[in-house]
Amino acid sequence: MAIIEVEGLCKDFKVAKRETGFVGALKSIVNREFVLKEAVKDISFSIEKGEMVGYIGPNGAGKSTTIKMLTGILVPSSGKIRVKGNVPYENRKKNARNIGVVFGQRTQLWWDLPTIESFELLKEIYRVSDQQYKKNMDTFTDILGLDEFLNTPVRQLSLGQRMRADIAASLLHDPEILFLDEPTIGLDVVAKEKMRDFITEINRERQVTVILTTHDMEDIEKLCKRMVLIDHGQKVYDGEIERVKARYGKMRTLIVDVEENGKGLCLSGGELLKEEGNRKWIRFNRDEISASGLISQITETHNISDLTVEEPEIESIISRIYQEGFAEPVRV
Ligand SMILES: Nc1ncnc2c1ncn2[C@@H]1O[C@H](COP(=O)(O)OP(=O)(O)O)[C@@H](O)[C@H]1O
Ligand SMILES: [Mg+2]
Repeated sequence: MAIIEVEGLCKDFKVAKRETGFVGALKSIVNREFVLKEAVKDISFSIEKGEMVGYIGPNGAGKSTTIKMLTGILVPSSGKIRVKGNVPYENRKKNARNIGVVFGQRTQLWWDLPTIESFELLKEIYRVSDQQYKKNMDTFTDILGLDEFLNTPVRQLSLGQRMRADIAASLLHDPEILFLDEPTIGLDVVAKEKMRDFITEINRERQVTVILTTHDMEDIEKLCKRMVLIDHGQKVYDGEIERVKARYGKMRTLIVDVEENGKGLCLSGGELLKEEGNRKWIRFNRDEISASGLISQITETHNISDLTVEEPEIESIISRIYQEGFAEPVRV
């Protein structure tokens, strides 16, 4: 049985309708009108033990709402969830033993206490044995460099430090499943890289199942084999990232610097996208023509002083899926 099963999951929020102006404000107080916001609409997926899955979508897509239902913080409007056999919102405590959670936007640690005291509190709350605590603290201190700020109150930590503290805290009780909601948000390049390395290691070495939301495309490319793509609360794709790339990623851009000689480029099989001085951007489909085929055409009329070939970024591929939908049926 899959470690996480989600079927027909929906979440609606009742949002007070706001009217503008003074009379409108009075009207809203006396006679509140509500509109229904469908944050998650009929989402289904299942995740096997040990997988690392990217739960991807633009801002407001419904990612955090889904994570909150999976962790038992929110009750679904309808649909089914099983996390290691538990219904999260019914057995929140039991579920908590099996999961670790990090919300990148908000710390789970005690703001005013030295960081180490948060860890000690969590040790008590989760009844972590002395031995397990020591083992984990040693490992996390080693990999995440916790010792540089263990005695600093959480509110004084840098964002990178806070994120490292939060992820260490979420793993103290050795959960089998880790939910990471935007774990790299706001981090600089180096801190992001460290966080990604750590997540990879936790997944690989401890076989922790990881569900990660992000809108950072580099996170996805570096961390996940599988992604569940959502948009406006609905699932638009579920499957291997490589398949998306194979389906949408056949376009390449050849960028060449040519020595100007007054002649125009004569291309067949490529499309001139733009020109800036001597630099030309040429788009081609690698199934129809190779980069070297294009280059040999160009060298018949021009000397090339520099060239690169670019693959499309996953970001542009994903925005195409949002616009057009995925042509093949999605995996459920
Ligand atoms: N507590 C709430 N009350 C009303 N609307 C909410 C609430 N939480 C989220 N929403 C709305 O639901 C949608 C999905 O939000 P969220 O799950 O936070 O998106 P994401 O994490 O993908 O950015 C958004 O339109 C958001 O404004
Ligand atoms: Mg969110």
